[in-house]
Amino acid sequence: MENTTICLLQYFFGIVLFVHITAADLSYSVPEEMRPGSIVGNAAKDLGLEVGKMIFRKHYCDIDQKTGDFVIRERIDREELCGEKISCILKFELVLENPLELHRISLLIQDVNDNFPIFPKDMIKLEITESAVKGARYRVNEAHDADIGQNTVQQYSLQNNEHFVLSVRDDTDGSKSIELVLDKELDREKEHDLIFVLIAIDGGNPQKSGTASIHVTVLDANDNAPIFSQAVFKASLPENSVVDTVVVTVSATDADEGVNGDVTYEFSRISDRAKKVFSLNNKSGEIKVTGPLDFESNAKYEMRIDAKDGYGLSSDCKVVIDVTDVNDNAPVIYMKSLMSPIPENVSPGTEVGIINVQDRDSETNGQVRCSIQQNVPFKLVPSIKNYYSLVTTGQLDRELVSDYNITISATDEGSPPLSSSKIVQLSVADINDNPPVFEEQSYSAYVSENNKPGSTLCSVSARDPDLRQNGTVIYSLLPGEVNGAPVSSYLSVNGDTGVIHAVRSFDYEQFRSFKVQVMARDNGSPPLSSNVTVSVFISDVNDNSPQILYPAPEGNSFMTELVPKAAHGGSLVSKVIAVDADSGQNAWLSYHIVKSTDPGLFTIGVHSGEIRTQRDISESDSMKQNLIVSVKDNGQPSLSATCSMYLLISDNLAEVPELKDISYDDKNSKLTSYLIIALVSVSTFFLTFIIIILGVRFCRRRKPRLLFDGAVAIPSAYLPPNYADVDGTGTLRSTYNYDAYLTTGSRTSDFKFVSSYNDNTLPADQTLRKSPSDFAEVFGDSLEPLEVGAVLV
Ligand SMILES: *[C@@H]1O[C@H](CO)[C@@H](O)[C@H](O)[C@H]1NC(C)=O
Ligand SMILES: *[C@@H]1O[C@H](CO)[C@@H](O)[C@H](O)[C@H]1NC(C)=O
Ligand SMILES: *[C@@H]1O[C@H](CO)[C@@H](O)[C@H](O)[C@H]1NC(C)=O
Repeated sequence: MENTTICLLQYFFGIVLFVHITAADLSYSVPEEMRPGSIVGNAAKDLGLEVGKMIFRKHYCDIDQKTGDFVIRERIDREELCGEKISCILKFELVLENPLELHRISLLIQDVNDNFPIFPKDMIKLEITESAVKGARYRVNEAHDADIGQNTVQQYSLQNNEHFVLSVRDDTDGSKSIELVLDKELDREKEHDLIFVLIAIDGGNPQKSGTASIHVTVLDANDNAPIFSQAVFKASLPENSVVDTVVVTVSATDADEGVNGDVTYEFSRISDRAKKVFSLNNKSGEIKVTGPLDFESNAKYEMRIDAKDGYGLSSDCKVVIDVTDVNDNAPVIYMKSLMSPIPENVSPGTEVGIINVQDRDSETNGQVRCSIQQNVPFKLVPSIKNYYSLVTTGQLDRELVSDYNITISATDEGSPPLSSSKIVQLSVADINDNPPVFEEQSYSAYVSENNKPGSTLCSVSARDPDLRQNGTVIYSLLPGEVNGAPVSSYLSVNGDTGVIHAVRSFDYEQFRSFKVQVMARDNGSPPLSSNVTVSVFISDVNDNSPQILYPAPEGNSFMTELVPKAAHGGSLVSKVIAVDADSGQNAWLSYHIVKSTDPGLFTIGVHSGEIRTQRDISESDSMKQNLIVSVKDNGQPSLSATCSMYLLISDNLAEVPELKDISYDDKNSKLTSYLIIALVSVSTFFLTFIIIILGVRFCRRRKPRLLFDGAVAIPSAYLPPNYADVDGTGTLRSTYNYDAYLTTGSRTSDFKFVSSYNDNTLPADQTLRKSPSDFAEVFGDSLEPLEVGAVLV
């Protein structure tokens, strides 16, 4: 087609072209995107040309040779051809040869709404802090629609959104600025992501739209303070809780996130005391025990705790910790007052001390019961609360118990109970309440007569258990008389030692015993004393030789005994009577014939002194017989006395011309009766003689005396009750202290001799050991010492 019309396609220079268009010969208007083959118009006819002359084949379109129709041959995309130009005209030139003719054809391409609005990004991401205020604006890129005019984006809208409104403004450059305007404030804590849709709608018919999703991430702002789960946290724990015990955990939550929601805890108000025993974990809010708790000093703690987030928003809460009591305190006993020493004579019920018991624990843990050990004469009497009086329950006696260690115990009622005890030391003060007490009820001292003055007789001893001077014993003699002389002239006592000394020499024959009273007195104030009787027994010494009462001592030989010639062997002829002022063995006399005219004729009873014929008298015997009798006592050494006894063997005194020359050769038995008469008279004489002697002795003492008058009964008042009348004959017989020695003489004579001895004179082997009372019976005060009583009936 070398000769075909040259078609100049000039686009993008519309205005220039428009000039040509006006000058154009033919113009058509078609919408874009016509189907290829679509006839736009009949160009031949419109130009007045012959069909077939026009050879026109161009891009997009051509002219049908046969019909001359202007036909679209290719898809025409206005947006591709003209972009955003408002008018889009395709210009062709139709050149005809022979003749050369030039025709201009312009094809106006009309826009068709064939494009959707498109946002630059499907997803628009925005990050907006939740603290953004209402009205804040956030730009988003506008959507683009390749179409033009009404077919471009006409409006925008938002979907699914409560927080934003759209603001669309036309900019001077024709573009639009689209902004999201915060209409309702954000709260990250409610929604931290917002997704909604922005729709752009064009004005075509039908409308087309494009969307973009908007993804708003709400950024946290520290707009929430931490909030405690409770306004007040209460905890209670026992006071013995160990360190590290968790008391309570406070917790606060912060709705913010990150640092804004990072809660830390700290004490905001806490006492110094509480600080020492509690710690707070600032992360976990755990309150732990760090020190010793003590209910008794602090039972309740209150503190405030702040919870803070990272940027300092805070709130606080109160923590109340109650410490509960544990029985951790034993009772304590205090001695408030104590009277010590206590005089031993306080009456039962006397208060001697006051005790106070304290237990720091409370309630039952602090309720205390007090007790006192058994076996002490004290008790506790409760007085006002927790006070007790210590009171005596019995009589005290320092001499038995002088010190008390009283154990007082106190126990509380906790579980387990605690207890403590205290020892109260009490001493008892002495009171002079014990008199000295002699170790024996009575004392006896035995001393031989003729003692040396100053010699020790015995010692008394008394004890006084009282203290010091109250127990110091001093001895003294109580004034009294012995035989009319003051006792002090007989005895003295050592005041300190109680040793009793004789002051003078004693004579048994003068008195055999006496009694003195010794007093033991303590040094108390007033002093106490006791008395004891000291009996002094003087024992006999053989200092008296036997005294021969009958026959009269040598030289007085006028007394001659008659011995009947017819006397048979064994007849009693006479008796030697002797006494000894001593007593006992010393007065136990024995009789011996030391010399005789006819040694074989007479014997003498060793103890009776009775002289008997040893054989029958014979005519050859000398009429005058002479015996020398020795009387010995049994003392050591023994003392003796001798006497001579003259015997006349004769039946009749008348036969005796002269006493000195009588012959004893009388055999007449009639003389027996004379002999009896003679014996009776001699005996009577002898008795009288004794009575006289005794009388003389009694008279000397000027005291009531005991008189014996022959066979007259002895006045019973002077006799011990043991004596009884024997056979009604007035013969006295002893049933107790006295032994009777009865001797029966020859067939024709009734010679009875009753000898009274006091008991201690008799048995040779018996020593002097009689109680003073025995002596008293025999030698009563009114009864003078009686050595020998002899009664001849
Ligand atoms: C009392 O206690 C004291 C001191 O412990 C002690 O020396 C004394 O012997 C006690 N006395 C008695 C009577 O137990
Ligand atoms: C002796 O007893 C008296 C009261 O009888 C008393 O006052 C005194 O203190 C006692 N002496 C001593 C040493 O205890
Ligand atoms: C001891 O004897 C004296 C004098 O007779 C008397 O005053 C005193 O009361 C007696 N003491 C006692 C304890 O009997």
